[in-house]
Amino acid sequence: MNYKAPRGTHDIFGINALGLNVLEQKARQIFIKHGFEEVRTPIFEDASLFTRSIGEATDIVEKEMYIFEDRKGRKLALRPEGTASLVRAYIEHRLDISFPSGKFFYSGEMFRYERPQAGRYRQFYQIGAEFYGSLSPSADAEIIMLVCDVLSSMGIEKVNVHVNSLGCQKCRPLFRETLVKYFTSIDDLCQDCLRRLQTNPLRLLDCKIDSDKFINVPKMNDFLCDDCKEHFNLVQNLIRSVNCTYIVDPKLVRGLDYYTRTVFEIRSNALGAQDALAAGGRYDNLVKELGGQDTPVVGFALGSERVLMAAQHSGFFSTLNKNEKVFIAIADQDLISEAFAFSIKLIRNGLKGNNDISVFGPVDNKSLTAQLRFADKIGASKTIIFAKAELGEGKVLVKNMIDKTQNAVFIGQL
Ligand code: HAM
Repeated sequence: MNYKAPRGTHDIFGINALGLNVLEQKARQIFIKHGFEEVRTPIFEDASLFTRSIGEATDIVEKEMYIFEDRKGRKLALRPEGTASLVRAYIEHRLDISFPSGKFFYSGEMFRYERPQAGRYRQFYQIGAEFYGSLSPSADAEIIMLVCDVLSSMGIEKVNVHVNSLGCQKCRPLFRETLVKYFTSIDDLCQDCLRRLQTNPLRLLDCKIDSDKFINVPKMNDFLCDDCKEHFNLVQNLIRSVNCTYIVDPKLVRGLDYYTRTVFEIRSNALGAQDALAAGGRYDNLVKELGGQDTPVVGFALGSERVLMAAQHSGFFSTLNKNEKVFIAIADQDLISEAFAFSIKLIRNGLKGNNDISVFGPVDNKSLTAQLRFADKIGASKTIIFAKAELGEGKVLVKNMIDKTQNAVFIGQL
């Protein structure tokens, strides 16, 4: 029977797994500097948590959730994102009362039943951070700068920062109404637009099929109430003050319903159609809607696979795992235990003058030629050969795998 990884999932080996770890580690260091603390939530939650927070009429809820029933008939969902889970945890642990201005971050697997393509998977990794309890534009600006810092730590400097404001409960209804009137006057809308016109008219703004037809489409900016306008202006002033170049993008509406005011997306030209490296925004009503105290929040999540793809374009991977590879070979089969003991000593203590080594071997039942071929294959720079004649004098043979020269060296000198 042939098994394959489920469609849209992928196995991560070697340098790519290392890249993911480095990204998570760098993000963690930056989050901690900004005073964020880590939270780990379950991979599955009550399905209705996501339906209520992300919104019934969103793609994620309508078609992308992995929903299943457990043995007691509870309807659960694999998490499609981390924001809703964190809000649930924040309220459940009553942090809305004891720690209303908390800063939290998370990382882990997310699941969405999307059509797989480069940069879009059904199981993917996200790293996210959420700043609870601040209405201040400086919280929005800090979150945007946090993402830029994480990207920059991975060597990704050339990004496009798109920002927009979606207003609040006071000013958005009139914009929505005006949009519906506008879109109703347009002929030949695609099926998705016709459906969303009833359920989620803002989403028509980012329709890939119809967007060319939308000339002089109303802009949220013209409908923002004074408070939202001031908030958005301040966010822009703050990110400008730290030299962040950005684009105000009236078409940026995001695919999740919980946003209020600031939304943003950070895109890379180095990627194809799936060019959003990270996205986020403010959601001031969600904690209250899910039963907590009125607590404003702003946050983001980045897609780790996409960030790693962009990092690869910037040459970041060439800086990873610079360890020198050393292979331990045996010319005589019965020297395996001496060679094994030496390899463990080498792993623990390194070579004299070089601790950054990776040790391979010894292996038994292979000819010396086969062992040297393997050493070449893994890119070893040195092979240390245990042979009876030399070992009798307390020496081993050190073969330079690049110029193929070989010298007998006292073990104690290595
Ligand atoms: P999102 O835009 O749905 O937002 O996802 C954030 C990032 O996750 C995207 O920009 C992308 O890099 C990555 N991503 C999303 N879907 C996939 C996929 N199928 N395959 C690979 N990568 C993907 C959220 O999830 C919000 N929770 C962000 C947020 C946090 N807003 C406020 N706080």
